[in-house]
Amino acid sequence: MLANKTVVLGITGSIAAYKAADIASKLNQAGARVEVVMTESATKFITPLTLRSITGRPVVTDMFEPGSEFSIEHVALAEAADTVVIAPATACIIAKMAAGISDDVLTCTVLATKAPIILAPAMNANMFENPITQDNLNKLKARGFIIVGSTHGRLASGKIGLGRLAEIDKIIGIIQQALGMGGDLAGKRIVVTAGGTQEPIDPVRHIGNRSSGKMGYAMAEAARDRGASVTLITAPDSLPEPVGMEVVHIQTATQMKEAVAKAVVQADGLIMAAAVADYQPKEVAETKIKKETSRLTLELVRTADILSEVKGDFLKVGFAAESQDIVASARQKLENKQLDLIVANDITDADSGFGADTNKVTLIDRDGKVDSLPLLTKREVADKILDKVVELLGGRE
Ligand code: CTP
Repeated sequence: MLANKTVVLGITGSIAAYKAADIASKLNQAGARVEVVMTESATKFITPLTLRSITGRPVVTDMFEPGSEFSIEHVALAEAADTVVIAPATACIIAKMAAGISDDVLTCTVLATKAPIILAPAMNANMFENPITQDNLNKLKARGFIIVGSTHGRLASGKIGLGRLAEIDKIIGIIQQALGMGGDLAGKRIVVTAGGTQEPIDPVRHIGNRSSGKMGYAMAEAARDRGASVTLITAPDSLPEPVGMEVVHIQTATQMKEAVAKAVVQADGLIMAAAVADYQPKEVAETKIKKETSRLTLELVRTADILSEVKGDFLKVGFAAESQDIVASARQKLENKQLDLIVANDITDADSGFGADTNKVTLIDRDGKVDSLPLLTKREVADKILDKVVELLGGRE
């Protein structure tokens, strides 16, 4: 997603300026071309040399720097940018932008660009909470600026409060989302389910499965990065909370069914990557079950088949975790559940399926077309599935 994109990273004079080096590094590693613009006060906190060494690109600190690649810096950068990110953004730069003042290379770049602009504020808690700053942020938000909210935490003053720069991964996620605006899923609503549901036995125990949630998360992030507005419905997992989408946390198959029914209203597609329990304990003990008997029998009853029962006119994509007769079994599921597409994976392969970062799948569509993909990362698999989703959605229009 970030490969071959130009990200103009504006750095202003906050103690959090050192964190911009990490942002630049992560963007650079992901293949983006990072053009750093620093205000004069930013150069007091972190040197242009640091940023230049990380990005391998000249760092702009002056609008009229001679010999630089950009003739008139702010115009050239503004036009080259796929997105402009100001991180950290001080109260001062926020006030200037809200007032339309452009008296340095960064504010001029902001005024001259048509690319999405992202602001990650970082400042003292009192400055952040001051109604003047809040008004300025609201004004910028109303003008289409994307604000990555400050977090609550320890500030440079030693105090605890609001005004801390958002987490780097959150900023990167928002950048990816901004770059995806106008992608081939722009304007589409996609619902993705992820993880393995847990069916409680008593207050401390449950029946679960080995799904890690990684495939579903990769699906949701890939859809977000192609411009879709995404709802991710996820069973408990240990993955970091994804940004730029609505995330609904559930535990049981019944809760997932309810969340799916709510989310698919007006959806264009449902992608069920979750490993949903097929059975749940008939009764859940109210107190912890004691080991008083030598045997314990649990009676299980079927859960609802979410994908088969969900109603609505949207594209339905299922996954089929199989250990034998993979294509034939998946095709059967596609027919039984009336799906548009099914993604079959061989769970007996260690590189594929549960817990792995890679997956080897076969896509089977409702017309019977079979596409066997090589071993790919889950993110690559997600994009291949979405290529097919885009094609099938096109066919419905
Ligand atoms: N699925 C669902 N609701 C369930 C079980 C499964 O919506 N109660 C969905 C899964 O999210 C997946 C697809 O149906 O997209 C196939 O799931 P899978 O576990 O492979 O198949 P099952 O239908 O459960 O059949 P079986 O376990 O007998 O193979």
